Amino acid sequence: MQTMALQLAQFPLGCGRIPALSSLLILFLNLGWVLSTTVHFRDTRLAQPTRVPSRVHQDREEGCPPGHQPNKVDENLLFYEEWELKVCVDAALLEEEMDLVNKVPFTQQQLHIFKDKLDQQYPQGYPESLVSTLKYFFLLMEPEDIHKWNITSLETVESLLEVAKGRQMSAQVDALVDRFIVGQGQLDRDIVAKLETLGVLRPAHLCFLSPDVLASINHTLLWKVEPQDLTACEPLQIEVLYQQAHQAFVNLSKLEYFSRILPFLGGAPMEGLQLLIEQKIHVDMPTFKKLQREVVLSLTVPEVEMLLGPHVEQLLAEQHHSPVREWVARQRQSDLDRLGLGLQGGIPNGYLVLNHKFREALSRGPQLQGPGPALGAIPLLLLAAHLS
Ligand SMILES: *[C@@H]1O[C@H](CO)[C@@H](O)[C@H](O)[C@H]1NC(C)=O
Ligand SMILES: *[C@@H]1O[C@H](CO)[C@@H](O)[C@H](O)[C@H]1NC(C)=O
Ligand SMILES: *[C@@H]1O[C@H](CO)[C@@H](O)[C@H](O)[C@H]1NC(C)=O
Repeated sequence: MQTMALQLAQFPLGCGRIPALSSLLILFLNLGWVLSTTVHFRDTRLAQPTRVPSRVHQDREEGCPPGHQPNKVDENLLFYEEWELKVCVDAALLEEEMDLVNKVPFTQQQLHIFKDKLDQQYPQGYPESLVSTLKYFFLLMEPEDIHKWNITSLETVESLLEVAKGRQMSAQVDALVDRFIVGQGQLDRDIVAKLETLGVLRPAHLCFLSPDVLASINHTLLWKVEPQDLTACEPLQIEVLYQQAHQAFVNLSKLEYFSRILPFLGGAPMEGLQLLIEQKIHVDMPTFKKLQREVVLSLTVPEVEMLLGPHVEQLLAEQHHSPVREWVARQRQSDLDRLGLGLQGGIPNGYLVLNHKFREALSRGPQLQGPGPALGAIPLLLLAAHLS
């Protein structure tokens, strides 16, 4: 509308006539008048009275001119200067009449002044009562604003998603959905279904879903998972996700299967790792360290050697850190020696070692869950002595 007003004002110049001096003066006055303001208007007679203070900006410091304090949001505000909006309009009024803020055709500049007002009122973030009424005002929000909100209502999310639809607001949409999901704690199945339908559930949300809900997750999401998406998952969640991913990818070619299943290996059972070993697929040390502890502890030295392949040397750097430390403590020193890495701390040669299956069963027992190698290794040796 501002451009329209400018075009109207420029019209006599554009048509190539040389206007009389008086009309030129009027034109310049008009032009200056239009440029000096950012408001748009339909009726110049209406706008005239508010022009006067625009020439005397000095009174800016002195607050709202008498009689200009609005008690409602309406079209009269369209003709306020920016400075007047800043000093006269109250955040509480905007909050109360957000629906009118959305109905009156304010310019972007005017809307940004309103936003500044509300931001000053709520530096810690808008309350949910305000967020739920934002509608088109949401278009002014930056992801940083949204990250401060608490959103508990799915209706609020839906109404704002509707506003954002078809616009370049994916960062805002992501922030909005994140705030909602974080606020929910664990999401129930109905809400997850709704978010799936809305197409806003992302792989990074998977760790917010209960194992129950994950057991029926739409597989489409699993195809988009990157390793960093699952770092916040609990062991039980990642176990369920591995099962789901395995089902989703099982019919792929071997190579594609293994590249897809990689982010989920932290939930893989022993059989899942056996598959990798059989196919000579190697994992790197960060992936190895994320495997389930009891699965790692049940691997033999040759199995670990096969699984790590070229990365096997990194065992040395990890020998004092879990789970490598505990794994080392469970191996025969003579087996470790065969790796030729100089790994120390295995079971001294000459001691009995329990067979693989038995060790696996034992590793589930509470007495072997301790953090240090001593806690794990000593009961094992004692038992070994008993059984011999
Ligand atoms: C959001 O919730 C937290 C925790 O209850 C609270 O400390 C914070 O002030 C809330 N923020 C807003 C913008 O309501
Ligand atoms: C899974 O999601 C995709 C796309 O988001 C959808 O087309 C499909 O119908 C969904 N499947 C189920 C079983 O809900
Ligand atoms: C994999 O193939 C089997 C047998 O052809 C089929 O029953 C199953 O539904 C397929 N799974 C997927 C996820 O496509």
